[in-house]
Amino acid sequence: MSTVNLEYKVAKEDFSKAGEASSAIKKTLKKLGVNSKIIRRVAIVTYEAEMNIVIHSFGGKIYVEIDTEKIKIIARDTGPGIPDTEKALEVGYSTATHQVRELGFGAGMGLPNIQRCSDEFSIESIVEDYTQVESTIYIQ
Ligand SMILES: Nc1ncnc2c1ncn2[C@@H]1O[C@H](COP(=O)(O)OP(=O)(O)O)[C@@H](O)[C@H]1O
Ligand SMILES: [Mg+2]
Repeated sequence: MSTVNLEYKVAKEDFSKAGEASSAIKKTLKKLGVNSKIIRRVAIVTYEAEMNIVIHSFGGKIYVEIDTEKIKIIARDTGPGIPDTEKALEVGYSTATHQVRELGFGAGMGLPNIQRCSDEFSIESIVEDYTQVESTIYIQ
C-alpha cells in the first residue's frame, strides 16, 4: 500500500452533515483492508474531532494520512481557539450549550476519547486563531 491522503471539509453547526467525514474515512479504511480494531479507533478519533469542529468551531478540515505503518489524523479549524487546553482535556469538561446537550452532545468525553484511542496525541490552540488536534495510530 502506498501513501493515501484524505481531506474533508467540516462546516460549523451543520448537524445534517455531521459525521459524514468520519463515515467516509471509515469506508476508505475498510476498502484498504485495514484491521477492524484499528478502524474502530480511527473512527472514534475522526468522529469526535469532526463533532468538535461542528459544535465548537467556525469550521475546518480533517486530514488523514495512511501509510503502511500508521494512520495520522489532523483536525484543524479556523477558530475561535481554546483558552485552556489542559482544562478542555479533562473528562466531563464541556462548554456545550443547553441546545447542543439536548441533541445528545456535550458530555465532555470527546477529547479524552481521542487521547485514549491515539498512540500519539497533541492539541495546539491559539485563541482567535485556530485549534489543531493531531492523532497518530500505529497499524503494526
Ligand atoms: N475545535 C474546537 N474549537 C474550540 N473549542 C473546542 C474544540 N474542541 C474542543 N473544544 C473545547 O473543549 C471542550 C471539551 O471538548 P470535548 O472533550 O470534545 O467535549 P464536548 O465536545 O462534549 O464539549 C469543549 O466543550 C470546548 O470548550
Ligand atoms: Mg466533543
